[in-house]
Amino acid sequence: MPRECDILIIGAGIAGLRAALTASKYGKVILLTKGKIGESATEKAQGGIAAAIDHIRDSTDFHFEDTIKAGAGLCNKEAVRILVDEGVDRVKELIEMGAQFDRAETEGGFALALEGAHKQRRILHAGDATGAEIEKTLGYNVIKEGLVEVHPLTMGVKLLVKDNRCFGAIATDETYYSKATILATGGVCQIYLYNTNPEVATGDGIAMAYEAGAEVADMEFVQFHPTTLVHSKEFEDIVALPQFLISEAVRGEGGILLNNKGERFVSELAPRDIVSRAIVEEMEKTKSEHVFLKLEMKPEKIKKRFPVIYKTCLERGLDITQEMIPVAPGAHYFMGGIKTDVNGKTSIENLFAAGECASAGVHGANRLASNSLLDGLVFGHRAAESAKECLSQKIQKIKEDFDAGTGKLGNKELMRSSLALKTIMWKNVGIVRSAESLNDALEKLEKQNVTDIELKNMLCVSKLITRAAFDRMESRGAHFRSDYPKTDDTNWNKHLTYSKMAA
Ligand code: FAD
Ligand code: SIN
Repeated sequence: MPRECDILIIGAGIAGLRAALTASKYGKVILLTKGKIGESATEKAQGGIAAAIDHIRDSTDFHFEDTIKAGAGLCNKEAVRILVDEGVDRVKELIEMGAQFDRAETEGGFALALEGAHKQRRILHAGDATGAEIEKTLGYNVIKEGLVEVHPLTMGVKLLVKDNRCFGAIATDETYYSKATILATGGVCQIYLYNTNPEVATGDGIAMAYEAGAEVADMEFVQFHPTTLVHSKEFEDIVALPQFLISEAVRGEGGILLNNKGERFVSELAPRDIVSRAIVEEMEKTKSEHVFLKLEMKPEKIKKRFPVIYKTCLERGLDITQEMIPVAPGAHYFMGGIKTDVNGKTSIENLFAAGECASAGVHGANRLASNSLLDGLVFGHRAAESAKECLSQKIQKIKEDFDAGTGKLGNKELMRSSLALKTIMWKNVGIVRSAESLNDALEKLEKQNVTDIELKNMLCVSKLITRAAFDRMESRGAHFRSDYPKTDDTNWNKHLTYSKMAA
């Protein structure tokens, strides 16, 4: 039986949950999530959420400046202004809802951390499990209000779009008709062999929107995090053992990077693209599979400040209070996605997007650390506020033939069969790219023959990323081309957008 609601939200990370809380004030909301609530990048977030809440040492202007600088010329200034200004209020609301961030005897009462490319300490955190604290708080409030119908283990597979207007979506169990639909499906980094993302991050929302005719933007900009844990088993059983992030906050607390000769080789808190490339260079020079991260903290402080990292490393045979951490970069965050305005509106009527699947230009060519939770919080809320404008319209049931039965939920088997694609993306469309590597990737991706829906989505976003990376003949932010190593403002200080209609 098809279902009906006023606002359909697909995705239950920070953007989807925040959107649901706002949307539930205006009408009936259904929230679909492919995994269980908590299976999201949000839940895994470690470092924290950036907000200029310290009015003495910090200001929203400083936060604005740092964000713009990191974005390497491509930030939408209006969107950044909204992010930093409204972000302070959204974070305060989150605290009022019950989120517990670490406290200190400072102005504002919070222990604020420092991360790369921030001029000030402005990262609120809950130990190194900030995302879990936020997801728990928002999830609890969504359920407590009882106003949102949550459908876990339900995967959105196709948008219902006719004459450039969205009427809902088909999911693995049912068709859902709605007056407005908000995509909050998160990122794409599972398309890379080495990544920090949860299994659900397969770019579904972006692929669904693109297939339905929406514009996507900034697809070439993938952020690689410099420090993911490299453990001895990794090369034997890549698929079985999830990769694990070692938060930038570790470097923020004085952690240093050393090559295998014990030498420092980069400024640890430089922007992520610089640190990641320096690590790759160092690994190549020293013929090593990793560099080392050395913590300069007392064992008790390590356990208190980084309990999840300490415990996870210990489970994997490494005592970080005694030993250095072997680390290498991994794909981490996607700056591109479904093109939206600052109200989450996409190029398709009644279709909205927020969070990592959306691209409002907040992050430009490179995201400032700890700005993406804030992005989901601010623009999830704004998308829902803007979706309410559709509620005076009637629900329309359009017919769409689609075999949703071919959709599978993320499982180990799927991850195994995606290995070929992930290897192409890692080797050819990774931290350092060139026309040769990208051309080769495009040819190989064209030959991939996949039937599973998640794999199709991964292939769709992989092709778009590779195409955009090929088209952008310069280096900027997180996009580095060895054949065009310089930034070229004369020709390339612009966004690249793609749509199926224009292809
Ligand atoms: P997500 O939180 O990923 O949620 C996406 C949701 O969509 C999930 O519920 C998923 O199940 C659902 N979904 C996906 N596809 C479908 C489908 N087809 N149908 C139905 N549901 C679907 N950012 C920071 O600002 N600070 C940090 O400290 C930080 N640390 C991080 C650490 C790690 C390990 C990772 C991976 C990321 C980190 N980030 C951090 C980035 C940040 O966590 C994410 O960008 C952000 O949480 C994305 O939120 P989101 O709501 O857009 O997506
Ligand atoms: C981290 O803790 O290093 C991740 C922070 C982020 O991605 O913003």
